[in-house]
Amino acid sequence: MDKIVIEGGQPLRGEMRVLGAKNAALPIQCAALLADGPTTLRHVPQLSDVRTMNALLAGLGCEVTGERTLTIHPGGVSDGPLEAPYDLVKTMRASVTVMGPLLARYGRARVSLPGGCAIGARPIDQHLRGLEALGATVTLSHGYVDLAAKRLTGAAFVFDLVTVGGTQNVMMAATLARGTTVLENVAREPEVVELALVLNKMGAKIRGAGTPVIEIEGVDRLSGIDHAILPDRIEAGTFMVGAAITGGDVTLRHAPVDDLHAVIAKMEEAGVLFDVTPEGLRVRGPDELRPIDVTTRPHPGFPTDMQAQIMVLATAARGQSLVTETIFENRFMHVPELCRMGADIVVHGNSAAIRGPTRYSGAEVMATDLRASASLILAGLIAKGRTEVRRVYHLDRGYETIETRLRSIGASIERYHGARG
Ligand code: EPZ
Repeated sequence: MDKIVIEGGQPLRGEMRVLGAKNAALPIQCAALLADGPTTLRHVPQLSDVRTMNALLAGLGCEVTGERTLTIHPGGVSDGPLEAPYDLVKTMRASVTVMGPLLARYGRARVSLPGGCAIGARPIDQHLRGLEALGATVTLSHGYVDLAAKRLTGAAFVFDLVTVGGTQNVMMAATLARGTTVLENVAREPEVVELALVLNKMGAKIRGAGTPVIEIEGVDRLSGIDHAILPDRIEAGTFMVGAAITGGDVTLRHAPVDDLHAVIAKMEEAGVLFDVTPEGLRVRGPDELRPIDVTTRPHPGFPTDMQAQIMVLATAARGQSLVTETIFENRFMHVPELCRMGADIVVHGNSAAIRGPTRYSGAEVMATDLRASASLILAGLIAKGRTEVRRVYHLDRGYETIETRLRSIGASIERYHGARG
């Protein structure tokens, strides 16, 4: 397993490009299953999760070619197994988002239940209830869910809670249903809006994405398209924190500013300086950061995927901060590791009380999940001495060659391949 080693103390300075969004690419890869021809995606991030999704699509019978520019031809799926197997789903839970497309286009799907993950139980009950509302029969056996429907029928459905994947799965299924579907209490994340835009480019008739109600008028077929993946707001936010805590000055090209209002507002409250320039979003760290209170919420609230990262910023601020996680039940796995590096964080239920500023000292730390590992890298950037982050395969799920890109803006950071984990 690889490890990443950082010598802290270098301010981040320079320009870097924000790459394509993992959480936009994954559902759009699934949407390609709905088309009766090939789909080409551009600016695809080179991440292990994207490769896992491509392996799943190939296993379903798709012809998958290319990487940064990716073409998915679902020609062979009708003769395929129509199954998302356990070993792929347990590797990446986003695999369950093939359910809706397979069911809508081929009338059947067999998908392994994802099981829990480091940050929580993450059930898919809302996905299944939504697909049942469209007329699917759903049976659970031996850790798999089997879905079937001759042809889905449009319906009205209200989600019990806001779920990004659930919204995406049911929205995709509804595109080929007979009649109109009205989904309420849906997720409003930019990646949901982007998926609806892609589906409409394919010939779907979707209105309201980005609002609490989405209406889908079913059509008979969808075509393959050519689409560029939008920039990753969470990657951008992660690098914004890096610039802020190192007293740096970084310009992020292609940063999706309109999808980052909650993050920018919270960081401005902490004293971080932002300028939108022709080159991109310029981020400057202040001499001293102010403490902040952050609560994660569904979009347009503060994103849970930035919680671990903003916590590092709060530890660097002078005073008391409070970070509250309302989306996942176990998303403070980074706290013990940050404390080993010197942070003063006390967890009470779903809130973390923080006292700063922290004089971080470098240490050997263990990554546990994607965004937790990003927070350890950030802490390493400002720690005194050497920090070793192990099990960085977690990081590689969502950040493309992060060490190379941080080095390009001044970080002293190296990756060591095959280190003992
Ligand atoms: C997406 O996961 C993202 N992943 C996550 O990003 C992100 O944290 C999450 O949305 C919330 O924004 C992708 O887009 C691939 P949810 P998803 O369904 O769709 C509960 C990252 O770091 N729930 O919105 O799985 C669930 O347990 C990843 O990039 C149910 O109870 O998230 C959670 O507590 C991590 N029943 C909450 O809803 C359901 O049927 C939100 O989950 C579905 C969800």
